[in-house]
Amino acid sequence: MVTGASRGIGRATVDAILARGGKVVAVARDEGLLGALQASWPNHVRALPADLQHLDRIPELAGRAVDAFGSVDGLVNCAGVARYEPVGAIDLASVEAQLRVNLIAPLFFSQALALHLRASGGSIVNVSSTLSERAAPHTVVYAATKAALNAVTRGLALELASSGVRVNAVLPGGVETDMLRAPRLQPGETLDPGEIEARVASQLAGLAALHPLGGRLGTPEEVAAVILSVLDQTWQTGSLVTIDGGLSLA
Ligand SMILES: NC(=O)c1ccc[n+]([C@@H]2O[C@H](COP(=O)([O-])OP(=O)(O)OC[C@H]3O[C@@H](n4cnc5c(N)ncnc54)[C@H](OP(=O)(O)O)[C@@H]3O)[C@@H](O)[C@H]2O)c1
Repeated sequence: MVTGASRGIGRATVDAILARGGKVVAVARDEGLLGALQASWPNHVRALPADLQHLDRIPELAGRAVDAFGSVDGLVNCAGVARYEPVGAIDLASVEAQLRVNLIAPLFFSQALALHLRASGGSIVNVSSTLSERAAPHTVVYAATKAALNAVTRGLALELASSGVRVNAVLPGGVETDMLRAPRLQPGETLDPGEIEARVASQLAGLAALHPLGGRLGTPEEVAAVILSVLDQTWQTGSLVTIDGGLSLA
């Protein structure tokens, strides 16, 4: 089961699982993208469109995921949301929205699927971020949700170890996805479309330059390869695995 399966790192993870003959239950909001994915892989993909802001749906979604192919042996909690907000512009609605998708949904999916994963000696990978350990401007809330996700990863890993279920986190640096293509604006700032394009290009170039390895962002495929590798490791649990082109060293 992969959440955030419609785009970016989650979609690359789905593609990597399919490439090795696996089956995937794909969760995200975008019904069109998930429908097209299922249409291309009718025997290997089940689309479960859902908005993870609605946490009360998680037990039902987990049940449908198990029913889709008869069992679930891996869970990749990849859905995530980042709101770039300077201190002074953070409100409760934004904090709650980021907490729901980035922290509470992974926790509740893990809890709902733990029993099923036990049957298969299964594995959970939570997609965290280097920002959980390294401060950057305008990401206070996002970073806090990912730091809490790291704590959830370690706590679940300890509690589920006796069941044979492994729980790890993957911490990417900057990766070329839609998440980084949102223009970062100051409160009250407005830009015309040309200015937005220029702002995003300058943001991406500035971020890429922070990565010592090649001065570039990562690709979703590079991160997906690590997610699959961590999913497979039979003697690894509670680990926070960084894949960041050396960003954490800089
Ligand atoms: N890109 C980076 O530089 C970077 C770095 C470190 C960590 N990460 C983490 O990597 C993960 C994937 O992000 P990405 O970079 O691939 O970003 P992305 O391209 O923006 O993809 C985000 C995914 O999350 C899903 N999602 C967002 N809100 C949702 C909601 N309310 N309900 C259900 N699904 C929702 C989106 O699907 P729909 O829009 O279809 O719902 C989409 O599939 C996230 O956890 C992110 O925090 C990213």
